[in-house]
Amino acid sequence: MDTNSGFKSTFLWGGATAANQIEGAYDKDGKGMSSADFIEFIPKEERVGDHHMEINSEHIQKILTGEHEGRFPKRDGIDFYNTYKEDIQLLAEMGFKAFRMSIHWSRIFPKGYEQEPNEAGLAFYDAIFDTLLSYDIEPVVTLSHYETPFGLTEKYNGWAGRQVIEHFVHYAETVFKRYKNKVKYWMTFNEINIINISPFTGGGIISDRETNPMEASYQALHHQFVASSLATKKLKSIIPNAKMGCMLARMIHYPNTCNPEDVLKAQQDNQMNLLYTDVQSLGEYPTYYKKFLSDNELTLNITDSDLAIIKQYPVDYISFSYYMSLLSSSSPEGNITQGNLMNSLKNPYLESSDWGWQIDPTGLRVVLNELWDRYKKPLFIVENGLGAKDIVEDGQIHDNYRIEYLKKHISEAKRAVEDGVDLMGYLAWGPIDLVSMSTSEMTKRYGFIYVDQDDYGNGSKKRIKKDSFNWYKNIISTNGSDL
Ligand code: BG6
Repeated sequence: MDTNSGFKSTFLWGGATAANQIEGAYDKDGKGMSSADFIEFIPKEERVGDHHMEINSEHIQKILTGEHEGRFPKRDGIDFYNTYKEDIQLLAEMGFKAFRMSIHWSRIFPKGYEQEPNEAGLAFYDAIFDTLLSYDIEPVVTLSHYETPFGLTEKYNGWAGRQVIEHFVHYAETVFKRYKNKVKYWMTFNEINIINISPFTGGGIISDRETNPMEASYQALHHQFVASSLATKKLKSIIPNAKMGCMLARMIHYPNTCNPEDVLKAQQDNQMNLLYTDVQSLGEYPTYYKKFLSDNELTLNITDSDLAIIKQYPVDYISFSYYMSLLSSSSPEGNITQGNLMNSLKNPYLESSDWGWQIDPTGLRVVLNELWDRYKKPLFIVENGLGAKDIVEDGQIHDNYRIEYLKKHISEAKRAVEDGVDLMGYLAWGPIDLVSMSTSEMTKRYGFIYVDQDDYGNGSKKRIKKDSFNWYKNIISTNGSDL
């Protein structure tokens, strides 16, 4: 029997980004508004929970009429729209083999439902892909990363409307045809599970427009499942050797104690997190989900032809983000800490980041083994990293904390490969500092490359290599053997 040792020679080392967090130029060259353009920066002291989960019709209306003036950092990003050549050159200097990015749907179809694409938007991504390929960096492209065109929100309340499926498939077909000689690795929806936690972020849905918001978010999820499979069908006919992946925010739940009630609760929480990959990888709704729907009195419109397409076109690989682990308890009382759009009881064995996310490298090995055992499909870590405050001293950033975090996680990924897991690659989140998804801050930084820009958009935008830059460069050049 073969045993694996170490990362394969084709391992895709690199980093991951999203258009709305880096590009800026939100209204340039024909781009339309997207959900991300409505997410406001609120200073920490004024924040109540995850502020952007509270988007409602009245608030959106006030933004549109100008009655509410806020600061919307995702409209400006880090100006990648204008700096991509220099930024990609820096990634190439680190030896990147792959770069994950998203296409901003509303750059291609400004309102989301047009028939004719915006040529300037298509040309922009041609230029990006050509630059990446000139350095032998493989583009890994997300079709939708929290960037639903706002036109679709106005017309259908985002993914709550079934009609959005056909608009998405038209968009997917358009970009597959355009970039068929440039992009091999695709994924449909970033962290598809977020639609049921933050419907506006995940699906452009304004919840108070729905009589039953929870039902609407699960109906919208169903639409995304169907759209993903239909897009996969198109991909296979347009670029036969391309690979389609799904993308899950894997939030592994441990039982808070060995009380069987806690174990059961953790199992149920894990099922509800793995629901998404169960459907997209195995091609059918699991039985526990049917019980969940009936327990919550949710009635979804799911047709036989929807189920047939989901069955026929599952994904080729499973990608996921991993930042932390969570605890489940049948009687959740105790210290609570923050997580990625989800809170948890505090795990006494783990340290937390400055934002409360519990740091658990071993959990990554657990997740990799679990996903491999469950699906037997290639896995791809497409987000992992430490959001931290960086201090510039004499023009340098000594981010040993980031190096430590990444070193431990990559070491656990390597151990999982030695366990027998088929791992395609590792993409660190935010290789260049970018606007935070959850808080729209710049203070929370993930990069190997510092961007001189603060929460209010002040700064020269100069790029500075952090200590982690050369560290990661060495990891890549040694294929992870020098950890
Ligand atoms: C993931 C998202 O959930 O976490 C990214 O896909 C996001 O878009 C990343 O940036 C880190 O989250 P945050 O809130 O620290 O930016």
